[in-house]
Amino acid sequence: MRTALVTGAADGLGKAIAAKLLDLGDRVALLDVNAERLERTRSEFAAQGGQVLARTADVADPAQVEATVRAVTETWGPLEVAVSNAGIAPHQNLLDMAPADWRRVLGVNLDGTFHVATAVARNMVEYGVAGTICCVASGAAFSARLGAGHYCTSKAGVVMLAKCLALEVGREGIRVNAVAPGLIDHGHREGLGEFVPREYVERMRANTPLDRVGTAAHVADAVAYLCSDQAAFVSGDVLMVDGASGAGRYNLPWS
Ligand SMILES: NC(=O)c1ccc[n+]([C@@H]2O[C@H](COP(=O)([O-])OP(=O)(O)OC[C@H]3O[C@@H](n4cnc5c(N)ncnc54)[C@H](O)[C@@H]3O)[C@@H](O)[C@H]2O)c1
Repeated sequence: MRTALVTGAADGLGKAIAAKLLDLGDRVALLDVNAERLERTRSEFAAQGGQVLARTADVADPAQVEATVRAVTETWGPLEVAVSNAGIAPHQNLLDMAPADWRRVLGVNLDGTFHVATAVARNMVEYGVAGTICCVASGAAFSARLGAGHYCTSKAGVVMLAKCLALEVGREGIRVNAVAPGLIDHGHREGLGEFVPREYVERMRANTPLDRVGTAAHVADAVAYLCSDQAAFVSGDVLMVDGASGAGRYNLPWS
């Protein structure tokens, strides 16, 4: 049984990733900043027989991340798998953005990934664990989005961070990768309402060669693969999970 950590695990993709790892037989530490939703998710998984523990923490704060890694290690032993998934995606144009808005998104998405991935990698090195780390980036790392300059920049940074870390810890047998999801339709969620407007979802579908938007399970399957022995020689890589929406121009024929 592997010991895993998933951040942003109370909801959305993080919850689906945690559920997948539990299905595969891992024990999973769930980290999220939203204490109430985290407890709901923890008790849901525990009721299904999953071995879980929950820690409320903000990934933007390195001390809270370090404390979580320490607490998990004290309870279950060193980490073998970690998925840095927590992220935020507010809509805002660059010209309207205050420096604090920019820093908040970079602070959670990029600094947060740095805090989580390096704390986990140090933990693995300290205990001699040839573990694996997967960072959730986005198609927005490779293709600019209007109204999301801070988000796109943060996700491009996440991709490069994963590659740099893979170089640094490869000799220890630690693998570091990223997934880059396209639009994932969460549908309606209690307390959050529609994740993105239906019209945007429909337009994304029309621009996706596989003719649909993704589900959380699509992303969870890709993360599970990257964290498995089947990906034993895959490191420093990015797996697109986007139905080919980022592969090139679509709906714009050559002639
Ligand atoms: N949904 C998509 O279409 C999509 C596409 C590409 C990439 N992503 C990425 O996938 C990840 C998850 O997205 P989602 O759609 O599941 O979002 P979500 O909002 O449904 O879930 C994010 C979770 O992260 C938690 N969180 C937010 N800030 C945090 C912080 N500072 N510390 C700890 N936890 C925090 C939230 O409480 C929430 O439970 C994000 O990194 C996002 O950028 C999502």
